[in-house]
Amino acid sequence: MERMIITHSPALQGEVSISGAKNSALPILAASLLGTEDIILSDVPPLEDVRIILQVIQSLGAQVSYEDETTVRINSKDLNHYNTPGELMGKMRASFLVMGPLLARIGKSITKLPGGCTIGSRPVDYHLKGFKALGCAITQDDSTIAAAAPVTGLSGNVVYLDFPSVGATQNIMMAATLAKGTSIIENAAREPEIVDLANFLNKIGADIKGAGTSNIKIRGVERLKGGNHSIIPDRIEAATFMIGSAITGGNVLIKNIIPSHLIPVTAKLQEVGCTIEEGEETLLVKGPRRLNPTSIKTMPYPGFPTDAQSQFMAMMTISKGESRVVETVFENRFMHVAELVRMGAVIDIIGKEAIIRGVSALQGAEVRATDLRAGAALVLAGLVAQGKTVLSELYHLDRGYYRLEEKIQALGGDIQRINF
Ligand code: EPZ
Repeated sequence: MERMIITHSPALQGEVSISGAKNSALPILAASLLGTEDIILSDVPPLEDVRIILQVIQSLGAQVSYEDETTVRINSKDLNHYNTPGELMGKMRASFLVMGPLLARIGKSITKLPGGCTIGSRPVDYHLKGFKALGCAITQDDSTIAAAAPVTGLSGNVVYLDFPSVGATQNIMMAATLAKGTSIIENAAREPEIVDLANFLNKIGADIKGAGTSNIKIRGVERLKGGNHSIIPDRIEAATFMIGSAITGGNVLIKNIIPSHLIPVTAKLQEVGCTIEEGEETLLVKGPRRLNPTSIKTMPYPGFPTDAQSQFMAMMTISKGESRVVETVFENRFMHVAELVRMGAVIDIIGKEAIIRGVSALQGAEVRATDLRAGAALVLAGLVAQGKTVLSELYHLDRGYYRLEEKIQALGGDIQRINF
């Protein structure tokens, strides 16, 4: 069993280059099923989740090959299956994103109902509402969902999302690219990963306008072709390293990013006392000697990202006062609190709100990653805790961070991955 050993470290210093965004690569790899000619994607992060979705699209008939560690060539002209393998679906719920492309290309999709995970039940009702609006018939039992488009194909329609769901916006957008007529998604998600997906789809022949706003218009076309695209940098990995510099009082240059994607994180880090200098594709983050308390409330983009909530909370545990964290996006994204408390943090949860009373120092402890971002939060906490922290259940981390320990070591952090 692998463990991460994190030892109290000096302030992080130096430069780190951010990888391509996991949450942009996954929908774009699913969208490659819509193409009928070669698609070449660069800056694809070599993560476990990416390997899983590549297995899924290959199982459906796409040809996949790696040009190099982060460049993938896909050709889906022979797409001929529509039944997503259950064991792969079970490994990663984002595999559900192949449903929209399959309905557009083949008119059918059968998949295992994506399970919830530690952060919430994560239903897919908004996705299904969109597919029905485009003309699909949906049947489901307690484990499987089957969707079928009319024999005449999907028809454009207007879909209102009760919540600006990232996945539902992506799935419906992909299905609508080949529908007859025009579709509009109202109250759509505005995340940068939505814009990246729309940019990719337009490159291969789609006609999408308004991505990045709450109102996205998709005019259906006959077919999509091929093309090249580079995945945007991972704003959540960048946020993780920005917070790493803040919590250790460090001086870290975050490279290969789009600073405007990080405005909420930059603003909150300035509130706790960081100085942040913005470059064209960089942010220089200098942490304060002592962190001021502050409060955050996670919201859909452009609000504070829920995927950076646990990392920010880890930092608040050693600020000089009381901070508050409200999680509004997922119903159970405080699993990391118990682990931080094991390290000496003082945190009370009242409903959706966590109240953090800063302590002078955390103590190293044996902790476990309860989800991908909670694992990252505990790594950051281990860097500043007295003594050693042993982190287990690393598979969560490997789903979303590429060579995290090597990047932290290069900044002076004392972190080792070992086999017990
Ligand atoms: C995406 O998940 C990300 N995953 C998540 O990142 C991220 O936390 C989330 O967006 C919010 O930003 C990927 O992009 C692969 P949602 P997604 O649909 O699309 C509810 C990480 O750590 N909802 O915006 O599943 C849902 O339960 C992961 O990288 C419904 O009720 O998120 C949640 O409470 C974690 N019905 C809220 O909406 C639906 O049909 C937001 O979910 C869909 C969602």
